[in-house]
Amino acid sequence: MSDATAKKEERRKFQAIRGTRDLLPPETALWNRVEQTAHEVFTTFGYGEIRLPVLENIELFARSIGGETDIVGKEMFSFEEFGWTAIDTFRREIITTNPIELRKIQTLASDSVKVKTERFLTALNEAVDRGEIKRTPETVQALAIVPQKRDELLAALATGDIKWSDKELTILWGVIQQAVKNVRLGDQVALRPEATASVCRAYIEHNMQQLPQPVKLYYTGPMFRRERPQKGRYRQFYQIGAEILGGTDAPAIDAEVIEMLMTYFDRVGLQGATLYINSIGHNADNCRRGYVANLKSALEKVKDKLGPDSQRRIDTNPLRVLDSKLESEQAIIATLPHIADHLCDECKTHYAEVKRQLEVRGVLYQENWRLVRGLDYYMRTTFEITAPGLGSQNAVCGGGRYDGLVELLGGPPTKGIGFAIGEDRLILSLQESGKGQVQQGRDVYIAWMGERAYAAAIRAAKDLRSAGFSAELPPLEQKFGKALGQADKLGAKYALILGDNEVSEGLWTIKTLSTGEQQKLPEPDLIEFLRTQKNVSS
Ligand code: HAM
Repeated sequence: MSDATAKKEERRKFQAIRGTRDLLPPETALWNRVEQTAHEVFTTFGYGEIRLPVLENIELFARSIGGETDIVGKEMFSFEEFGWTAIDTFRREIITTNPIELRKIQTLASDSVKVKTERFLTALNEAVDRGEIKRTPETVQALAIVPQKRDELLAALATGDIKWSDKELTILWGVIQQAVKNVRLGDQVALRPEATASVCRAYIEHNMQQLPQPVKLYYTGPMFRRERPQKGRYRQFYQIGAEILGGTDAPAIDAEVIEMLMTYFDRVGLQGATLYINSIGHNADNCRRGYVANLKSALEKVKDKLGPDSQRRIDTNPLRVLDSKLESEQAIIATLPHIADHLCDECKTHYAEVKRQLEVRGVLYQENWRLVRGLDYYMRTTFEITAPGLGSQNAVCGGGRYDGLVELLGGPPTKGIGFAIGEDRLILSLQESGKGQVQQGRDVYIAWMGERAYAAAIRAAKDLRSAGFSAELPPLEQKFGKALGQADKLGAKYALILGDNEVSEGLWTIKTLSTGEQQKLPEPDLIEFLRTQKNVSS
C-alpha cells in the first residue's frame, strides 16, 4: 500500500458511530423550529423546561423501566464511573495478561505476577481504607483470593512443575482475573435510554413535592439505546417529552396531556397522525395481575405456535407478547383475552372518563387493546401516536400514566403521566409529507470591489445583521459577475452591489435576484427598503 493510500484509508476510518449521525444545515433549521414550537406550545399549558444529565446511575433505569425489558436487558450503553485511574490501570494489567505468554519468558514470569498483583492489592487496600472504594463482598473476596492464588501460581512457576499444564495455569490465573474484575471501583452509569426516570429522580432530589402540585415539566435531548439501526431507529435519537407529577390522577389530566400533544403536532404541521389509547389497569389481583395470570395461561396453550421471543416472554413479561409484530403470531394474538374485560371498577371508570374527556376536547382517538408499551412503569392510561411516511418504525410518540414510579424510586407517593415524542421520526414524517421545508439562504449577499467599497460593505453587513437580516460578506474581493453567481448559489434574495461608483455617489445598488430588478438607494434607506419588501412578500 502506498503512503498516500494508507493515509486515505486512515482518514476513511473516522465515521459517525453505528446508529449515530450528524444533523446538518439546512435540516437543523427544521429541528430548531420543531423544538421552538414545543417550547411555545408547552409553555401555554403551564409547563417549564427541565434540563437533565445524559448520564445516570444504571440502577435508576433498571428499577423504573424494568429489568426484563429490552431497554434495560440489552440496549443500554453503560460503563463504570470512578476516579481511581491507577487501580483501574493495575486491574487492566491483570485482566490483559496471558499467563502462558508469561511462562515463555520464564525468568520474568514470577516477577511479573508478583508486581502486577501486588500493585493492584496495595492500591485497592489503600482505597478501601480511605473509604474511597466500598468494602463490598466482591472487594473482600478479591483481597483474600488474589494473594492466595498468586502464591499458588508463584509456587508452580518457581518449581517449573510439569504437572502445571498451560490449562491449569490459565484456570488459576483466570480465578485471579475474575476476582479482580468483580471489584466495583465505582457506580455503573448509563447513557439515558429515556428521561421519565430522570425526571422522577429530579422531582425527588429537589423536593418538588413541596412545590404547588402538579409539577409540569418538559425536556428535549438525546437518548441512547443499542437497537438495530434502521429508518427511524437510531442508537442516539432525540426526544421531546413532558411529564406531569403530583396532585391528582383525575382523568382530565390524562386528557389534557394528550390534548397538548395533539395541539403540538397540529402546530408543527404533522399530517395523518393517529392517536391510539388503552388502559392497562393497575397492579392488583382484581385488575392487571389477574389479567396477566389469565393471559399467561392462554399463552401456555398456544405456546408452540409462538416464536422464541414470545415463548420466552410468557415467563418473563407476558404482556409484551401483545406487542409482537411477527406476522405469524398475529392470528394467535387476536384470540387472546382482552385487558378491558379484566379491569377493576376504578380503572374501568378512569378509562371511560379519559375517553369522555378526550371527546369533550375534540381529540380523536382509536382504542387499541394491545397497546401495553415496552416499559414496566405504566399503569392505567397508555397511548401512542403513529404518523405516515415512517415505515415499520411508525410510532412518533409514546406515553402513559405511571403513578407510583416516584415512590418506587424512594420518593413520596406521587401520581404521574407523560409522553415522549421521537423527534427524529417527527422530522422524517414532516419531510416525507413536504412540511419539512425551512426557509434557507441569505437575505443579502454583499458584492463589493475596491478598498473603499469594502469599508462600506463591512458597515452594511453590521447594520443588516443588527436589523435581523442575514448578510453574507465575502472575505475576498471578487468580480461582480462571480459575486452574483455566488449569491445565487447561496439562495440569497438580494445582492447589494458596492463599487467605487456607489461609494462616490453615496447611492448603493440593490438587486432583487429573483427578478433581476435593480435600484439605487441612499445608504440610510437600505434597511427600510428591505423591511418594506419583506412586509409586501409576507
Ligand atoms: P418510548 O415509547 O420508549 O417511551 O419512546 C418514545 C418515542 O421515542 C417512540 O415513540 C419513538 O418515536 C422514539 N424512539 C424510541 N426509540 C427510538 C430509537 N431507537 N430511534 C428513534 N426514535 C426512537 C419513552 O421513552 C417514555 N419515556 C415515554 C414517556 C414519558 N412515558 C411517560 N412519560
